[in-house]
Amino acid sequence: MCPFETWANPRIGGTVIDDDLDLDDARKRYHFALAPEDYERLPFYSALLHELEHDPLALELLARVRVEQRNPMLVLAALQLAALRGHPILGPIYDEARHGVLDDPEGAAKRVLEALHLAPELVRDELWRSTQTNEPGRSAVIQAVVADLASDAPRVNVVEVGTSAGINLYFDEFTVQDHDDGNPLTLVCEDVTPIDRSRPLPEVRTRVGIDPNPLLLTSEEDRRWLKACLWPEQRRRHDRFDAIVAAKPSWPTVTMLRGRAMERLNDAFELVDASSLTIIVNTWTAFYFTDDERARYFAEVSRRCAKGNVAWLSIESTMVRWPHVDLDEQDRHRAASQIVVTRSGGSAVRWGWCHAHGRWLEKTTGS
Ligand SMILES: C[S@@+](CC[C@H](N)C(=O)[O-])C[C@H]1O[C@@H](n2cnc3c(N)ncnc32)[C@H](O)[C@@H]1O
Repeated sequence: MCPFETWANPRIGGTVIDDDLDLDDARKRYHFALAPEDYERLPFYSALLHELEHDPLALELLARVRVEQRNPMLVLAALQLAALRGHPILGPIYDEARHGVLDDPEGAAKRVLEALHLAPELVRDELWRSTQTNEPGRSAVIQAVVADLASDAPRVNVVEVGTSAGINLYFDEFTVQDHDDGNPLTLVCEDVTPIDRSRPLPEVRTRVGIDPNPLLLTSEEDRRWLKACLWPEQRRRHDRFDAIVAAKPSWPTVTMLRGRAMERLNDAFELVDASSLTIIVNTWTAFYFTDDERARYFAEVSRRCAKGNVAWLSIESTMVRWPHVDLDEQDRHRAASQIVVTRSGGSAVRWGWCHAHGRWLEKTTGS
């Protein structure tokens, strides 16, 4: 079984001990939080997850999180948030990790645990939050799929469900290349199958984001949380985030609607230019829906697409199953994200696969 799926599945069982806390389940979630290839790339986070997995306090903290957010990344982000707020022990450790100069990752991980034991509220007080990682790398995938969905539409509206800070509403502002050119705003994506990147992107008329907790790049506290959700050892992601914050004032305006998907979809459609194709986009959002919400969302999106002038693009974990869309169980796809689309007037089909952060993209033949 894919390790990622193991921790990500809120329904996996374990030994339930007193107070209904499932500590076995929490242990597995920490244990499988990283993909195997990440263990080498992220020595500090690997060591820290190892410590958390074996620490009763850390197990309890995770086990108490509401099920849809019971994700080790939330605990890791809470710790990094404390560091970014200037915690005297955590601040220097995370700073060194972000700058690639942390000499002793195992020792640092142990010191983080000591700090957590001295002040568990550093994490406990932040567990009301949601993992809101806003990953711009997904815009490399959005560009390719939107160009395809809008091949006959010169103008589109984009409604992004689960928009976080709305960064991917600017998917057309990024340059996509297959190599790092040193510009933090360049997205590096390997097209595993041929993708016509020369195809012009449609003009975006309206950009609307929906989120229960929309974050503002102009808010210092929101920026801190967004940074806390980025893995400290991935310097390029931090640099890119800073570059986006600097570039944002010159980018077009977006409208952010506060609320859950099904509460605000109608309002979003009130705002779009009805003469242009509207593309509903969700990337790593439906993963956090309840089963009922996911079913209602799919029905609503399908209904709108069937009426015409609306298309749908979904990029989600393989944990998210959509009706009538078969899942390819090939090993190499299990830790990937699946891309599902509905063309205007059509029904849902798999378009392809991509890396969860948009590092590679593969189009399914005939999609
Ligand atoms: C992991 S983040 C992904 C953000 C963005 N889509 C991306 O790919 O960068 C998930 C986002 O979904 C939002 N979310 C969670 N439940 C939601 C719901 N029921 N309706 C709309 N958004 C939701 C969260 O607040 C969070 O900002």
